Amino acid sequence: MKACDAKSCEGCSSKDKQSREQLIHCKLLRIKHKLLVMSGKGGVGKSSVAAYLALTLAKQGYQVALLDVDLHGPSIPKMLGLRGILDIAADGQIIPQEYSSNLKVVSIESMLEDTDSAVIWRGPLKHGVIQQFLADCRWDDLDFLIIDSPPGTGDEPLSVARLIPDAKAIIVTTPQEVALADVRKSINFCRKVKLNIVGLVENMSGLHCPHCEGFIPIFRTGGGKRTAERMKLPFLGALPFDPAVVEGGDRGRPVLEEDTDSPFKQALQEFAESVLKELKFSESALAPEMKTLH
Ligand SMILES: Nc1ncnc2c1ncn2[C@@H]1O[C@H](COP(=O)(O)OP(=O)(O)O)[C@@H](O)[C@H]1O
Ligand SMILES: [Mg+2]
Ligand SMILES: [Zn+2]
Repeated sequence: MKACDAKSCEGCSSKDKQSREQLIHCKLLRIKHKLLVMSGKGGVGKSSVAAYLALTLAKQGYQVALLDVDLHGPSIPKMLGLRGILDIAADGQIIPQEYSSNLKVVSIESMLEDTDSAVIWRGPLKHGVIQQFLADCRWDDLDFLIIDSPPGTGDEPLSVARLIPDAKAIIVTTPQEVALADVRKSINFCRKVKLNIVGLVENMSGLHCPHCEGFIPIFRTGGGKRTAERMKLPFLGALPFDPAVVEGGDRGRPVLEEDTDSPFKQALQEFAESVLKELKFSESALAPEMKTLH
C-alpha cells in the first residue's frame, strides 16, 4: 500500500484512482479515536451505551460519529428517533444522518427501504458491507467514531478489528455472573485479534428507587469491577438501571435531551470521563511518531 499522509488524501473520494483499502486508510487517518462497543451477549445495553457515549461526547463539543454494524438487529436509528434512508452525494459518497451538528449516524437500517424486512447476511457479505460503510461514508474529521456491534465475537467485530487496526474496544456487561463469563470471551477475542481494550463498563447496575432514596441491586452490583480487576483492565464505571432509558429508547428520545438530573446521567458523565482519561493515557504511552496520527 502506498504511504499516505493526511494531505495527499484530499482527492480520496475518487474511487477509480485508489483501492478501497487505501480509501479506508485515508479516511481513518482523519478520525482520532475509533471505539468498538462490544459485549458477550445481547440485551446488556450495548447499543444504549454506544449511543449515550456518543451523545455525551457530542454534547461536550467533540466531533462524533456513531456507526451501527449490527446488521441483524440495528437499533441505533430508532433509539435516536432517526428516520428515512441515507442520501448519496453527487460524488457517490454516503452522507451520514445528522442527529445534531456534531453527531453523525450511519446504520444499515437507514440503507434499507423496508426496515421490517429480515436481511440475511453471510460472513463475506457482512465484511463487504462494513468495508463499504468505512470507505464510502463521508466521515470528514472526527474526534470519535463509535461503533455498535452485535453481541458476541462473530463476523462484525472481527471485520472491524481487521479494517480498523487502531480501533479500541469498550466491553459492556451486566453485573451477574453469567454475563461476566461472556465478558471473559470478549476479552480473549480482543487479545487474539490484537484489539486494545479501553476498559469495561457495567450496565444495569442496580436501580435507584423512584419512590424513595433507596438503591436496589437488581442483578447485584460490583461484578464488573471485580472482573476488570481480575483481568487487569480499567473499570470505566457502572450505569444504573433507569426506566427512563427504556422509555427514551422506545420513544426515540434519549434521556440526555431532558433537563432533569438523574443518577443515570451522573454515572454517564463519569463513564465518559473515564473513557477520555484512558484514551489520553494510552496516547501518552505512544511513541512520538505515532502521536501525529492521533
Ligand atoms: N441502563 C439502563 N437502564 C434501563 N434500561 C436500559 C439500560 N440500558 C439499556 N436498557 C434497555 O435495555 C434494552 C436492551 O438495550 P440495548 O442497548 O438494545 O442492548 P443490546 O444492544 O446489548 O442488545 C433496551 O430496551 C434498552 O432501552
Ligand atoms: Mg444492540
Ligand atoms: Zn423505594
